[in-house]
Amino acid sequence: MNTLLAFDFTNFVGRFHPILVHLPIGFILMSIFMEWYQRIQKTTKLSSLISYGWLLAGIGGAFAAFCGWWLGETGLYFEDDLFLHRWMGIAIVLISFVGWWLKKNAENHANSLHQIVNFLVIGLITVEGHLGGNLTHGEAYLFEYAPESIRDMMLGEKEAMTDLSKADSVVVYNDLVKPIFEQKCFACHNNEVTRGGLNMAAIDSMLVGGDGGPAYTPSNVSESELFRRITLPQKNIKFMPPVGDPLTYDEIKIVEWWIEQVASPDSKIGDIEVAESIKPTLLRKYGLDTNPKPYYETVNIAPLDSVQITALEQNGFTVNVLGGENPLLDVKFSGKALTEEQLKSLAPAAAHITWLSLARTNVKDEWLSAIASFENLTRLQLEKTAITDQGVETLSGLKHLEVLNLYGTQVTDSCLPTLQKMEGLKRVYLWKTKVSTANAKSLDENEKKLAVITGQG
Ligand code: HEC
Repeated sequence: MNTLLAFDFTNFVGRFHPILVHLPIGFILMSIFMEWYQRIQKTTKLSSLISYGWLLAGIGGAFAAFCGWWLGETGLYFEDDLFLHRWMGIAIVLISFVGWWLKKNAENHANSLHQIVNFLVIGLITVEGHLGGNLTHGEAYLFEYAPESIRDMMLGEKEAMTDLSKADSVVVYNDLVKPIFEQKCFACHNNEVTRGGLNMAAIDSMLVGGDGGPAYTPSNVSESELFRRITLPQKNIKFMPPVGDPLTYDEIKIVEWWIEQVASPDSKIGDIEVAESIKPTLLRKYGLDTNPKPYYETVNIAPLDSVQITALEQNGFTVNVLGGENPLLDVKFSGKALTEEQLKSLAPAAAHITWLSLARTNVKDEWLSAIASFENLTRLQLEKTAITDQGVETLSGLKHLEVLNLYGTQVTDSCLPTLQKMEGLKRVYLWKTKVSTANAKSLDENEKKLAVITGQG
C-alpha cells in the first residue's frame, strides 16, 4: 500500500498546495502596499517593481492552483466547499495577471480602476483563505474558541436532540447511529457523492459497499471496513473522516455496538438485550437509562383522592406519596395498638400502597388477609411482630412483593417453601427467627433471584 501511495501523483502534487499558496499572496499584498505608499508619497511614476510583484503572484498562484486542483481530486474534501474554493482560486490567478498588465503602465488607467482591482483581490484572498481553512480544518475551526455569543452567531446553535426520553422506543440505527454518520460521513458518501464508491445514505447501500466491498459485516466489527476506518490512527491516510471532526469515543462505541449487536435496521432498544458495556455510553451521551426499572416505577395509576388519604391518617397511619410522577403510597403504622379494623380500613388504597410497614405492632396472622391482595405492594415490613408461618402463607399471593422483612418474628423453616414460591420476592430478612441458618443459607444459594438475609455470614 505504501509503495502505491508513494507514486500517487494526485496526492504527491496535491500536497504542495498549502506550501505554494502563501507566497503569491505575499507578493500581491506587498505590491498593493507599495502602490499605496507611493501614491501617498505622490510619486509621479509607480515603481516597476509593483507590476513585477503582480506578475510573480500570477505565476506563483498558477502553480499553487495547479497543485490545489489535484489535491481536490483526492476526494478528501467536502464537495460543496471545494467548488467555490477552486474557482475563486483560479479567478485570483487571472486577476493577478490583469493586475500586472494594469500596473505596467499604471498612468494610462484611472486611479479608481487600480483601487477596485486592489480591493477586489484583497477581498477574494480573504474569503478564499477562509474557505481553504474550512476545507482542511472543518467549518468550526475559526470560531471554535471564540466567546460563546460570537460562536453561536457564526456557527448556529447546536441543533436540538431528538427526544430520547423513552429508552425502549429508540430505534438504534435511525436515532443513534445515523445522526453520527449524517454529521461526519454523509458529505462524501451520499446518493450523489460516493467517495470510494461508497454511499452511506441507506443500510442497503452500505451493505453493497464501495470499491473495497461491503462497508460493514453485521455482527462482526473486525471484518467491517467502516469500523476499521474510524478507528485507525488519525494520521493514516485511510482514516475516516479525512477532514473535519473525528468520531468521539462514545460515537465509536455506539457504531461498534450497532455493528456487533443490533441485527435489524429497525431494532429498538426495547427489543434487544442491551450489553452492559454500552450502558454507560447510552446514559452519558443520550441520557438513556436502560437498566430495568423497579416495578413500582412502572405502575400507571391515578393518584388517590386526598379525602381517602386523610381517612387513612385518621386511622393512625402515616402516609407519604412516593413523589415525582409517582402517586403510589408509602404507609406506616406507628404505635402498638393496631386493630384488625384499622388494617381493613386500608382497603380503598389497596392499589396505591406499595410500601407498608407494620413493624413492631401487635399485628396478628389472621389480620394479614386484609392486605393479602394488595396488587402493587412491593415492600412489607413485619419485623418484631408475632407473625408465624401461617401469616407468611396468607401473603403468598402477593405477586409483586419484592422485599419482606420478617426479622425477629416467629417464623420457622416451614415458611421457606412458601417464600421460595413467591415469584417477585428478591429479598427476605430472617434474622433472629426460628429459621435455621443452614436452611436459610441453602435457600439463598439455590434461589438465584432471592437474597435471604440472616445476619450471620
Ligand atoms: C471529506 C470526504 C469524506 C468524508 C467526510 C468521509 N469519507 Fe470515507 N472516503 C472518502 C474517500 C475519498 C474515500 C476513498 C479513498 C479511500 O478509500 O480512502 C473514502 C472511502 C471510505 C471507505 C472505503 C470504501 C471502499 O469500499 O473502498 C469507507 C468504509 C469510508 N470511507 C467510511 C467513511 C465513514 C464511516 C465516514 C464518516 C465517519 C467517512 N467515510 C467520511 C472521503 C470521505
